[in-house]
Amino acid sequence: MDLHEQADASLREVMGTYPTGVTVVAGADAEGLPYGLTVNSFTSVSLDPPLVLVCIGHASTSHARLITAQTFTINVLAADQSEVALRFAREPSDGRFEEVDWTPAASGAPIIEGSAAWLECSVHEVLSGGDHSILVGRVERAAVTERPVLVFHRGRMSATDT
Ligand SMILES: Cc1cc2nc3c(=O)[nH]c(=O)nc-3n(C[C@H](O)[C@H](O)[C@H](O)COP(=O)(O)O)c2cc1C
Repeated sequence: MDLHEQADASLREVMGTYPTGVTVVAGADAEGLPYGLTVNSFTSVSLDPPLVLVCIGHASTSHARLITAQTFTINVLAADQSEVALRFAREPSDGRFEEVDWTPAASGAPIIEGSAAWLECSVHEVLSGGDHSILVGRVERAAVTERPVLVFHRGRMSATDT
């Protein structure tokens, strides 16, 4: 059938066809306690200044905390971290960092051990995006490894070949 004749797909279905990486966006509260959630709406915005964005749902318990904290990390998960991705997407939010090795970045926001790459960002701007907020982060520090990354595609997580 011609593609035009089946123009009834949902946004969710179409986005499922588009492979992404998987990240954990994380911060630390005033007591230094870490929190975070699994996010695949991560993309770069600008190279100069260095800006990235993530979209955080209004229903997320991390939403207000990330905006208040003004700094956060984006941990790009490695191919062997699908358990971490599931853990940070599951309720409850509290205790997600128990049994996960992490170290604090300069701002105190967590860097998850074993990640393929990470960025530490300050909140540059918060834009309105329907039932999500678009958090534009200015990259303050970044690190990258050669670890293969985790990929999310058609509702499944898998490893990249390289
Ligand atoms: C692969 C994957 C990608 C996700 N991407 C996002 C995202 O980009 N933004 C978002 O707000 N939630 C996203 N979620 C859902 C959150 O991780 C989930 O709702 C989480 O429980 C929210 O935690 P919180 O309420 O502690 O903030 C994603 C979940 C999965 C499994």
